[in-house]
Amino acid sequence: MTLPPISILVVHGPNLNLLGQREPGIYGSLSLADINRLLELEATKLQVGVFPVQSNHEGVLVDKIHSALGDYQGILINAGAYTHTSVALRDAIAGVNLPTVEVHLSNIYRREEFRHHSYIAPVAIGQISGFGAQSYVLGLQALVHHLREKSV
Ligand code: DQA
Repeated sequence: MTLPPISILVVHGPNLNLLGQREPGIYGSLSLADINRLLELEATKLQVGVFPVQSNHEGVLVDKIHSALGDYQGILINAGAYTHTSVALRDAIAGVNLPTVEVHLSNIYRREEFRHHSYIAPVAIGQISGFGAQSYVLGLQALVHHLREKSV
């Protein structure tokens, strides 16, 4: 059986370009390039394409999400600190109406109170938080599973 082609836009938000050197006790020692490699390996196993982008700028992230329409079937996003502040990112995800999975390296509910609220969660299929780099791999698996369930 040949699987329908699936392409996933992977969106990394602010400060995630510093992974590896940024608070490694919280975020681990892998760099963003390492995480993208892990996603690439998993994508090969799942027979899907992953296309990572990173920006520290809210408007650029909004534009990236808009550009997913037509080219991608789903979005995997770690919005970083914008998770807790950005109505614009939330509206962009709702606007393109593509299945979206929210991921976080750290368990945001075990941390400061201001991290407990996510603007993204209500417009996402689901959220994976607290498994380090594995959160991304689990999130990709969940998103692809969801997309394949939908298409049968
Ligand atoms: C994060 C959690 C956010 O609260 C924080 O601002 C980040 C990273 C995570 O992956 O654990 O930048 O999204």
